[in-house]
Amino acid sequence: MANGKTVIAFDLYGTLLSTGSIAGELAKSFGDDASKPLAALWRRYQLEYTWRINSMGMYRTFSEITRGALKHAVAESGLTVSDEDADRLMNAYNALDVFAEVPAALKTVADNTSTIEALVFSNGTDEMVSASIATSPGLSPHAGVFKGLVTVDGPKVFKPDRKTYGHLLEQVGKQSFPGHVWLITANPFDVVGARAAGLRAAWVDRAGTGWVDHLGDVIGGITPSLVVSGVDEAVDKILQQAL
Ligand code: LAC
Repeated sequence: MANGKTVIAFDLYGTLLSTGSIAGELAKSFGDDASKPLAALWRRYQLEYTWRINSMGMYRTFSEITRGALKHAVAESGLTVSDEDADRLMNAYNALDVFAEVPAALKTVADNTSTIEALVFSNGTDEMVSASIATSPGLSPHAGVFKGLVTVDGPKVFKPDRKTYGHLLEQVGKQSFPGHVWLITANPFDVVGARAAGLRAAWVDRAGTGWVDHLGDVIGGITPSLVVSGVDEAVDKILQQAL
């Protein structure tokens, strides 16, 4: 697949798409005040469920996980959600907004396709990821820059299980050259997982907190290959190294 190009795999939820942008839809059911903390809690349980189910040696799709996490977040907030509202919110999940700098970053990718091969690499299923890319107003105009979608439909286990990164390397024919593949992600757990599997990883530090995740230290000096403030800066820096 990669033909000697620099492979850049973009994490989707939380990196290209803002999981916080669901707050507007949540506000329709739960009001403005509850919507932002609820969006954050929903995301927290979505990720926590992926790690828990991985530890249990079980698998359900990211859609099922996301729906369960919604119910958990709502119940913990002392609220209730009808099945119709849960359906509406799950549909809205396919239309999340991109972070502000993402269109410029994808334009740079489009201008450099002779150097870069771009992919989406996500915990979602093929169906969910395709729907998100096609429906997100900020992402759909740029859908053509992605040469492929790598999802966990194949390995049926979530990041940061090593098999997910192995699957990505296999899909781009780089099993023997993991260091030739970049992951851009705003999720620290994804950075540590990718680096532990030998890939390079650019961590998007939108909040400007600096790298405070220490699991990489615990397992032996693993840090991001790059720390950047946005996906656009990540693409620019990877491109500089590639040229
Ligand atoms: C993804 C997760 C990390 O898109 O949200 O893989």
